[in-house]
Amino acid sequence: MVELKNKRAIVTGAAVGLGNAYAYALAKEGVHVAVCDIRDEIHDVAETLKTYGVNAVAWQGDVSDPVHVREVVDGAASAFGGLDILINNAGVWGASVADDDLDKSLDDYDRIVGTNLKGEYLFARAVIPILIEQGVGGDIVNIATDHMVTCGTPWDRCPNPGSCAFEHPRPTGGGDAMDLYDAAKWGLNGFLYGWAKALAPHNIRVNAFCMGATDSYMLRSFHNFEPSEEEVASWMKAEDNAQVLMDILKEGPSGRNAQNVNFCVGRTVTTEPPLEQIYVYQEQVTLGGGS
Ligand SMILES: NC(=O)c1ccc[n+]([C@@H]2O[C@H](COP(=O)([O-])OP(=O)(O)OC[C@H]3O[C@@H](n4cnc5c(N)ncnc54)[C@H](O)[C@@H]3O)[C@@H](O)[C@H]2O)c1
Repeated sequence: MVELKNKRAIVTGAAVGLGNAYAYALAKEGVHVAVCDIRDEIHDVAETLKTYGVNAVAWQGDVSDPVHVREVVDGAASAFGGLDILINNAGVWGASVADDDLDKSLDDYDRIVGTNLKGEYLFARAVIPILIEQGVGGDIVNIATDHMVTCGTPWDRCPNPGSCAFEHPRPTGGGDAMDLYDAAKWGLNGFLYGWAKALAPHNIRVNAFCMGATDSYMLRSFHNFEPSEEEVASWMKAEDNAQVLMDILKEGPSGRNAQNVNFCVGRTVTTEPPLEQIYVYQEQVTLGGGS
């Protein structure tokens, strides 16, 4: 177990929802936190984070904008004297189906893939050289969705199928209007395994969180902000999810790596042991070859 106090983190999309819970959980552990969000109230979040006795800085902007990404990453590293943790959380959902017209599809692509895939890509690309240069390891956690690992991937890896809230095996994938959202989240698997393999020699771990329904602004918006009591009771809590994040960060360099950490509706949110590693990174990756 490693101490998180005085580590330095960036959390994207931290104004509301899961990102907000992650930022507060980190601050309660004594982590200095840089937050960003497309919403202006992110500045208020930073002010409240400071009441936990940590340094906190905020930027308002779009994670798909490389100028904003550079500003946040360089600004945070400069404010804190370095970086240790990136929580790639900002995400959006929008309805998209296979026969959407092309103009709508292009707008959807820019927004949904721009936020859920490009944003995570840009933030990691800006943060990774800093982590490598520091030479003391670090953590990247990408926030994905259970649509890509429903019942585990493959589903027969589910540690406890008996408690599944869905008919088992639940097919992988989201609902009817999710093709683009799921494609973007599935794309995170490429980053998960590629980065974990490349960064393991530098003691930088890369994991992903794959949530089922968790109470947040986004989930409430699906229910026109009037969810029934039964629906809310069935949802997981962002604070419990954030506690698992703290536990996994505290595992340190010898902890799990390259894992899709699955949070299934119907199962208690606890920090489960790492899954058997089936996507083992075997060969060494040469960094610096992409320029
Ligand atoms: N809540 C769930 O049930 C659930 C399930 C699976 C996955 N997720 C994922 O968890 C993450 C957090 O979702 P949430 O439910 O807390 O959503 P949310 O809408 O409650 O919060 C998302 C935050 O990201 C910010 N954001 C959105 N687009 C942005 C952009 N382009 N640039 C900067 N900030 C942006 C929003 O303003 C908001 O503060 C997302 O990646 C989402 O896809 C959530």
